[in-house]
Amino acid sequence: MVKESGASRKEKILVTAGLPYANGPIHLGHLVEYIQADIFVRFLRLSGKDVIYVCGDDTHGTPIELAAAKEKIAPEELIKRYYDEHTADFASFFVNFDVYHSTNSPENRFYSDLFFNRLNEKGLIQQRLVELTYCENDKRYLPDRYVKGKCPKCGAEDQYGDQCEKCNATYQPVELIEPRCAICGLAPVRKQSLHYFFKLSSFSQQLQEWLDGNKGIQSDVRHFVEGWIKSGLQDWDISRDGPYFGFKIPGELNKYYYVWLDAPIGYIAATEKYCKDKLGKTALEAYWQNPDARIIHFIGKDIIYFHLLFWPAMLAAAGFSLPSDIAVHGHLTVNGEKMSKSRGNFLTAKDYLAVSGHEPEFLRFYYASHLTKSVSDINLDFNDFKEKTNNDLVNNLANFVHRTLVFLNNNFDSKLEPLGTDEKLFLQQLQPKYDSIAGHYLEYSFKDAVRELLELSSIGNRYFQENQPWQLIKTDKKKCHRVVSVAAQIVRDLMLLAFPILPKYSEKILRLFGYENFEHLSFADLGRFPSAKKLYPARIVFAPIEETIALAPVFPAVLKVGVIGEIAEHPDADKLYVLKVDIGKGKPKVIQLVAGLRPYYKKDELLGKKVVVVSNLKHAKLRGYESQGMLLAADDGSRVTVVFPQGSEPGDLVFPEGSDPEKIAGNRKQLAIDEFYRLNLRVKDEKVMYGAKPLKTSKEIIPVDAADDAVVR
Ligand code: MSP
Ligand code: ZN
Repeated sequence: MVKESGASRKEKILVTAGLPYANGPIHLGHLVEYIQADIFVRFLRLSGKDVIYVCGDDTHGTPIELAAAKEKIAPEELIKRYYDEHTADFASFFVNFDVYHSTNSPENRFYSDLFFNRLNEKGLIQQRLVELTYCENDKRYLPDRYVKGKCPKCGAEDQYGDQCEKCNATYQPVELIEPRCAICGLAPVRKQSLHYFFKLSSFSQQLQEWLDGNKGIQSDVRHFVEGWIKSGLQDWDISRDGPYFGFKIPGELNKYYYVWLDAPIGYIAATEKYCKDKLGKTALEAYWQNPDARIIHFIGKDIIYFHLLFWPAMLAAAGFSLPSDIAVHGHLTVNGEKMSKSRGNFLTAKDYLAVSGHEPEFLRFYYASHLTKSVSDINLDFNDFKEKTNNDLVNNLANFVHRTLVFLNNNFDSKLEPLGTDEKLFLQQLQPKYDSIAGHYLEYSFKDAVRELLELSSIGNRYFQENQPWQLIKTDKKKCHRVVSVAAQIVRDLMLLAFPILPKYSEKILRLFGYENFEHLSFADLGRFPSAKKLYPARIVFAPIEETIALAPVFPAVLKVGVIGEIAEHPDADKLYVLKVDIGKGKPKVIQLVAGLRPYYKKDELLGKKVVVVSNLKHAKLRGYESQGMLLAADDGSRVTVVFPQGSEPGDLVFPEGSDPEKIAGNRKQLAIDEFYRLNLRVKDEKVMYGAKPLKTSKEIIPVDAADDAVVR
């Protein structure tokens, strides 16, 4: 029933989504892409296609190296943590990769070297002396994102060294106007280094031919790329100087592949991992050199340049298959604005799920309702989100499903009744709609697919309403049973057709019809009378959304119970103590604090006591002694009273009542002291208050023996 796009039946399809960077959480912007591609893959599979969905973390580059250095951990440890987080986030939104790999893998090293060596043998790699930005303060070259200035093409302020967010131009860091080091803010110097270049300039004609042969590529995207080709392609610097986290270039001591060289090769590495484990073949045999395979990339519009110029040129140069389609989507805006932490509209996958009532499938449904084959941005508007979810998904689609199954269960013991000619004819009329929905999926017009799915459930609702089974049951029970069986078939068909968007919900409903194997679910069942399985009592409902997404910022201080293990007078300051406090849970984690408590407490009044420590303050030196945090004390202007938790254990997290301790513990930001003061913790009724919320651990409300309104800091 799905139109074959001239492809053979044995065709294998490989779908990829952009590899997320391994130094930040999956956010709602990312999810547009992973959900979009997931819907597409599920659709293809339902249509009987042999398709796999591959992805993985993009783990290399300066930001990851610096983030790890800042946390004083190895980059491998950092990327491991994000790997675990990312895979958990994808699973919670039912994004179902066949393989989720990593660019920091042996497969990726192998293919990166293979590309490099082949390109080199073909004379497509040249060494050139380049002038780079170098920060003498930080003792490193400043690649890409570590130098900021004005875009050399359009003049936009505050742009990174690799690509302008305003005009999409790519360029070299030294081309930036009025550059400054993004780490320390100082003006960098220029310094020479010998780099490797890929001769992209030789590929203009091949790229143009490939574009011409790919009719599916969106016209906006095509225009961008043709514009770049016409204005002349520049050779591409594929190397970076250490310190860097990545793969070393063969024969080099301190030069690495640029992250954007090995990132797309990560698609092949992930395919290799899958093929090796599941098929006993190489990625090349099964996909990347298989003429019966098609490769489809899903990407956001910010990475068009990399995927429609560098990548196809590299593939062509290495003798691999080029993608047959690249589906480009726009960016997510939230309430009409670009997502950003400072605007307070930056939402991670976890933030979304933390709001009660926010089903992952509500977001999938909302995104599907807005996705078209266009590169225009997608807006998540909280009011629209609530309305679409409640009206379309809950009150139309899910309501039809629910009323039908409940009626069938209550009155007919969940059994179906064979249909008469009229009923069969009625159902046959729906076939063109089914075809049309499938066609929309194939064209990436999920918005139209959703529109027609809702029309289908409206038809079902209307049929149910007009036939009044609750009346009919009194006069003609057989006819009533047939009516409800018609509705049940529409429900089953609707669930097959909605499965790509609502996989969990559809699965639950389809199980009631006796479906068990969801790997091999197929549109071939559409229009067939459901098997006369007993429909078990259906209590599968979506609850409507009561409130819109709350955007309460996470409490930024990580407060922990600690125990004072050592205390000494500061040798050069008569008000200060130097304390060793253990804030470890289970195993010791001792930090050093310097505190101005000598006028108020004797040493033995503090030694061995439990205290509350701000553990994520920026470290400071106080008269030569490092202070790695601060312990909480109330100050009423004359007296200073240390906060002594009694019923908690060292390592326990202290947090404002009602907030999510896990999220707070996940704070990685180092707080400046005045950021902490701004929290304005105060005493009220012998509790430490953050606004109207007392601070607590999981075991007790933290007590403090001080007068109301004393400042806690
Ligand atoms: N690591 C690169 C991709 C390498 S692919 C060989 C990268 N990573 S990313 O984490 O920044 O983005 C991953 C994907 O998510 C990209 O396709 C990007 O376009 C998409 N999105 C990231 N933020 C987005 C929005 N706010 N909105 C929609 N998609 C966005 O780029
Ligand atoms: Zn610097």
